[in-house]
Amino acid sequence: MFAAWAAQVRAAPSGRADPARDVAFWARQAAHYDAGQPALPNTVAWLRGRLRGARSLLDVGAGTGRLTLPLAPAVPLVTALDHSPDMLAVLRAKGPPAHLSARCQGLQDALRDPTLPPHDAVLSAWSLAYLPDLRAALSGLLRLSGRDLLILEDDGVGSPHVNLRRHLSGQPRPQRASQLNAALSALGHPPDHHRVQEARELTFPDLPALLAQARLPLPDAEALAALRPHLTHDGAGWRYRWTFDVHVLHVRMGARP
Ligand SMILES: C[S@@+](CC[C@H](N)C(=O)[O-])C[C@H]1O[C@@H](n2cnc3c(N)ncnc32)[C@H](O)[C@@H]1O
Repeated sequence: MFAAWAAQVRAAPSGRADPARDVAFWARQAAHYDAGQPALPNTVAWLRGRLRGARSLLDVGAGTGRLTLPLAPAVPLVTALDHSPDMLAVLRAKGPPAHLSARCQGLQDALRDPTLPPHDAVLSAWSLAYLPDLRAALSGLLRLSGRDLLILEDDGVGSPHVNLRRHLSGQPRPQRASQLNAALSALGHPPDHHRVQEARELTFPDLPALLAQARLPLPDAEALAALRPHLTHDGAGWRYRWTFDVHVLHVRMGARP
């Protein structure tokens, strides 16, 4: 399965398996990343519960701090690791607390760096997707996790319009959470697999604006019929709402498999 993961990563047309290309990708995205991402209140609440009593948290691929910052009050020492200086610049601009240190470093380097100590909890949220050597990455994260390793991912399902667009193009989203679950199990650390439900809502002044965002390769009437179950109309315009699951893979270090 590690070979299949590597092949999947290397086949991505974006070429982001090359860390320099991934850093360049995030340089272009950083300024508007937060605006395009859903808030994850249920996931944050769930994670806070799991972090109770942890003395340190390492967030691998912390990005703009979407999760690091709301989790920081729960842990006395927080390290936000990311190889994108642009994503970390957004995090720093939000005025993180003094007990949070941002560390601009690639995970591959960090895993060989003796100055990065183990942390009670290690979190990796949507940050492993373009790492070809999954065995090395997960083995390293397990080594750094004193108590809990928490990996967040999707499992083949995204927003309704992206699901449909990918279905129509014959390129379904990878089931990364299931793949990561199998990988951790193969390494002798089968995780608890939790699903936390979140909701997303976008509003549009009119249907052409909604269709422009959805970019479905269908006649307008068919595209609208497909999205109709998720649409309501009121004085503010069209509300497009859906729910989705955040998959959390939780390895308790020291627990018997
Ligand atoms: C999809 S974003 C997720 C950010 C954040 N965890 C969140 O949930 O909003 C992925 C982040 O992982 C970082 N990343 C990807 N590969 C990395 C690597 N090999 N080493 C360090 N950071 C990496 C990217 O720079 C980016 O900021």
